[in-house]
Formats: sequence, structure tokens, C-alpha cells
Amino acid sequence: MDVEKIRSQIPVLGHTAYMNTGWSGPPPRRVAQAMKDRIDLELEQGPIMPEVLEAGREIQAQAREAAARILNATVDEVLVTRNTTEGLNIVLSGLDWKQGDEIIICDMEHGSVIASAQLIGQRYGVVVKVVDLDYRDSSETILTKIESAFTSKTRMVFISHILYTTGRRMPAEEIAQLTKDRGVLFMLDGAQTGGHIALDMARSGFDFYSIPGQKWLLGYEGSGALFIRREHLERVHPAHTGGRAVVRPVDAHNFRPVPDTMEKFLGGSASVPVQAAFLEATKFIEEIGIHNIEERNLDLADSAKAKLSEIPGVTVLSPSERRDSSGLVSFSVAGQTPVSVVERLWENHRIVVRQVNHPEGVRASLHFFNTEQEVDLLVGGTRELA
Ligand SMILES: Cc1ncc(COP(=O)(O)O)c(C=O)c1O
Repeated sequence: MDVEKIRSQIPVLGHTAYMNTGWSGPPPRRVAQAMKDRIDLELEQGPIMPEVLEAGREIQAQAREAAARILNATVDEVLVTRNTTEGLNIVLSGLDWKQGDEIIICDMEHGSVIASAQLIGQRYGVVVKVVDLDYRDSSETILTKIESAFTSKTRMVFISHILYTTGRRMPAEEIAQLTKDRGVLFMLDGAQTGGHIALDMARSGFDFYSIPGQKWLLGYEGSGALFIRREHLERVHPAHTGGRAVVRPVDAHNFRPVPDTMEKFLGGSASVPVQAAFLEATKFIEEIGIHNIEERNLDLADSAKAKLSEIPGVTVLSPSERRDSSGLVSFSVAGQTPVSVVERLWENHRIVVRQVNHPEGVRASLHFFNTEQEVDLLVGGTRELA
């Protein structure tokens, strides 16, 4: 991997140690250019001229194919969405819930998981069982905790594949086996995975999976992708729909919905410029290679964790085992609030990190474009504060 060449394509890296891809990744120049080209085309030609419309449809079709490749799913199992959360909500709001059904989540989850599950709970009388985790839990402990939360009423396990707080990679394949054995649905929030680790819906036992475009894929906000395993498509009703989900010509007296495909979830119009950026971003990631990216991110994270843990007063909150790890590295500094560490790393060294809660800490996102020198800058800046 030619890291210097890659870095030269991401302008923000010229002046900033960017370690907040877990929030939003820094766009490469060519990704921004793809969006600008589309905006210019619409500007110069008009958005609905036949050639512009056709080119837009082609971009959307290619974006969907790209999403399917990133997820290793078939195109008919994938929908391009506006973000991770939208995909999760499509599934949750589309299932037929019965009073007393149970959904298992865990307490270290992102608000998108907590809110979407709890809302379904309140609306349909579904019980949301929250499994309490400790950041030091091993995969075996997590599995035991989740397994002991199952009852005969459990209908779904719904967790993040990589926890946004500590970067822990959850034992998803093993949880998939637990759910499969019991006929329970398994939905994963992949906000921290697409473009970060290799995904394989074809071979996994995951039923539903949602990813964003703006984080590790390095696209723009307003794009994402949802996977629904084909066998479940019928049972997910379109809670939101619109003109694109009706067979043409539209006839109010003779409603003909599109066949039972992912198209049934299409509501109104989508942003083609944003999808153009999503498409270009996936190409950028694919050219570098997801396996190369995953390995490099783990190498950078291993190095950061080893060096940070040598600093007196610093506690690394991310797992040490490589199989449980990701490019997200969280740590706390004794006597300092995470917010003040985040602010001072920025003020002193132009390092962009963020604070997280539960456990309270500072989170650095290390993606393939980051360097060992930047890791050293983070470690040195943290040592000064500790
Ligand atoms: C685990 C997790 N879920 C969901 C989200 C929200 O993602 P999106 O804005 O793509 O819906 C985030 C973003 O920070 C996240 O880390």
C-alpha cells in the first residue's frame, strides 16, 4: 500500500492528524470531484434532461452494485439508503411485532440502536432486554451474557458489529449461530464496519445489516446501504414508501405495488450527487483492498494501544486481542476529562479525536491513511497531558 500516494489524495491530511473517521471520514479529492461533476452536470444541463436522468439512473444502479460488493451480497438483497440508522429503522418498523416479543441489545450501544429498539418497544409492547457489558469482557463472556438473555419470546438480537465506544469487534459469527439455533433474527449495526473490515453477508448468518457511506468508506453524509437476506424480504413491510414503489402508470383506483423486492422501500427522490460520491468512495476502497485496510488498521491500533498503555495514568479501554480489535482505540487519562483531552490534543497538535461515554474515554479512529508518525504524535500528546 502506497500510503504517501493515498495521503496526497486526501487534502485534510496535509494539515491535520485526522483520527475521527468513526464519526465521518475525510473525503479523498476524487470522491468530492465525482459529486462536483454531477452537481455541475445538473447545473449546466438541468436535472431532468433525458441524458442527465439516464446518467443519474446509471449512477444509482452502480452505487447499489458497489454496496452489494462491499457487503458481499447479491444486488437484489441491497438497498442504497441515506445512512445506517435509516436502514435499521426500515427493518424494525417493517416487522410484525407482537406484544411481549423480546429484542436483545447491549448497554454499550450507539443511540441509533437504543432509540430505534426502544421506540419499537414502546409502540408495540416489545420488551427490550439490555445486556450489560464491561469493556474488559472477553468474547466468551459476551456470548454467555447474550445467551443467558434468550427466552422463548426472543425475536431479535440487535447489536453493533464493532462497538463505537471502544472499537470492540463483537463475536458476531458466534452470536449468529446462537440466533440461528433458536430461530431468532439477527440484525447488525455496521456503522463502524463498511470500508473498515471485510464483510461477507453471503457466508455470514446475519439477517439484516446496515452501513453508512460517510465513515470508513470515505463518502459523504447522506449515503448508506442496507442488506436484507432474501428469505426475510417478504416479512419486512414497507413502513415508508412512495411513488417509486408503485408500478407505472400510477393508478389511484388500481394500486399496484412493485413486486416484493428492495424497491418497495424506495420513497421519494434520492440525492444523485451523494450517490456519485458513494460510488467513487467504494471504488477508492476497493482499489486499496479491504483486507489490506483491515490489516493495516489493526497494525496501527496494536501499536497505539501498546504505546499508550506504557504511559502512567493512561488506561486503554479497547480490547488487546487482535481478533476482538479494530482501528478504533479508546483510552482514558487519569485526572483529565475526555473532553479536555480531546480539546488539548487539538489545540496542541491538531489531532482530531472524540470523546465517548460508557466507558468514558477518548477515541482515536485509525484508518489506513494514518501513519505510525501520527500514532507517535497521539502518544506524545497524551503523555504530555498525563
Ligand atoms: C454504532 C453506530 N451506529 C449508528 C451511527 C449513526 O450512523 P448514521 O449517521 O450513518 O446513521 C453511528 C455513528 O456515529 C455509530 O457509530
